[in-house]
Parts: sequence; structure tokens; C-alpha cells
Amino acid sequence: MVAMTDSWVARLQNVGRVYKSKTGPDVAALSNINLDIHYGAFIALVGPSGSGKSTVLGLIGCLDAQTTGEVELFSRKLGSTDKGGRSDLRRQKMGFVFQNYKLLPSLSVIENVARPLVFRGVKHVRRLKIAAERLERVGLAGLGSRRPFQLSGGQQQRVAIARALASSPEMLIADEPTGALDTKNADSIIELLCELNEVGMFPVSAYGTHLSN
Ligand SMILES: Nc1ncnc2c1ncn2[C@@H]1O[C@H](COP(=O)(O)OP(=O)(O)OP(=O)(O)O)[C@@H](O)[C@H]1O
Ligand SMILES: [Mg+2]
Repeated sequence: MVAMTDSWVARLQNVGRVYKSKTGPDVAALSNINLDIHYGAFIALVGPSGSGKSTVLGLIGCLDAQTTGEVELFSRKLGSTDKGGRSDLRRQKMGFVFQNYKLLPSLSVIENVARPLVFRGVKHVRRLKIAAERLERVGLAGLGSRRPFQLSGGQQQRVAIARALASSPEMLIADEPTGALDTKNADSIIELLCELNEVGMFPVSAYGTHLSN
């Protein structure tokens, strides 16, 4: 079980994000957003296309910076220009899952899962051991030697989840993780993410969807 505390790990205060354009009008994607995310939370951002879900996830996931307001993550205040702070936090704390899986087609499934550990200096044998454990955790034991294209969409998304788990991140950011899947597969992916959150493998989980899964 996750040790629940009252403390929040992410706080957005009066946050705005304006996308500047050289060719057309600027786009105010977010204005005056306030959001607290607590340790142990499983958050679904639900809204129509263009409502700003990916923009919010980009701020929480340290992929992007706000134009106005304050973003505080893991007790660190991030100004709109704090690129170094953002990339540190992203590397140390975040795991990502996207609609189109973003697996590397030239690598086997297990190598895809082990990939983030290369950048953390984990040795080859240990990388493969961790990756095999993660694959088992998402229900894909035994499929590690296949290539991504030899798996179904639902299985590929499980591989992407196993890859996000590889570096034991504190926060999972998933943008439309079920967007490319049918209802049955979509339900089972959300169920898996809930379960991983509950057992503390993704202690904080935030996902965006235009459907109310
Ligand atoms: N890089 C960008 N440059 C300019 N405008 C952008 C950019 N990214 C997003 N926007 C605009 O910001 C607003 C919010 O976009 P965002 O992608 O966050 O919405 P979303 O809720 O994730 O939509 P969807 O469900 O289609 O993924 C939209 O009006 C969009 O057109
Ligand atoms: Mg989006």
C-alpha cells in the first residue's frame, strides 16, 4: 500500500499558458488554472479536444513551462524559465505514456522496456532483469524477444507502461493512453494503471482523455 500523506506533490496556482505565434494570433490555452495533486492520487483530466489537457500534463510532466502563475513540483518552485530544474525533475521523477506508444521499432520489446535504464547507467544484465520483471507485471511475460510490430495495440501500450515503470518514477504522466484502443483494451489499460497506482508503483498518476473512461 502507498503511504498516504496530506502533502501535495504538484501545485498549480493561477497558471496560464499562452502559445505565441509568428504567423497568427497567440493562443491562450490555459488561464488561471489551480490544481493540487497529492501523493497517492490517480487523476483523470477529462475534456473535449482543445480544452488544454495535454498542456496541463506538459506542465505537470516538466515538458513545458507556464507563461504566468506558479508551478510547484516535489517542493520545487518552477519559474517559466527554469529549464534545468524541469529536466532534472523529469529525469528523476517522471514516467510517460502516450497515445501512439512511441516504442522503438528496431529494438525488441525487452530492449524497449530496458531503454530508460541505459541513461541511468544501469548495467546490461541488471537492465534486462528489471525489464523482464516489469513486463511480467504488465502481463506480458515471455513476449520480450518480439518486436513491437508483432504485438497488438493493447500489448504495445502495456510495453510502454512497462517502460515507464522501468526507472521506478514517482509520477506517471499519460496523455490519451487509450486513444488508439478499442473499449475493451482501453478499459483494461486504465484498470492496469489504477492497479499500479494502488500498489505504489506509480505513486502519482495523471492521465488525460477526451472520453470518460
Ligand atoms: N504548440 C502549440 N502552438 C499553438 N497552439 C497550441 C499548441 N499546442 C496546443 N495549442 C492550442 O492550445 C489549446 C489546448 O491544446 P491542448 O493540446 O492542450 O488540448 P487537448 O485538451 O489536449 O486536446 P486533444 O483532446 O485534442 O488532445 C488548443 O486551442 C490548441 O490549439
Ligand atoms: Mg491532448
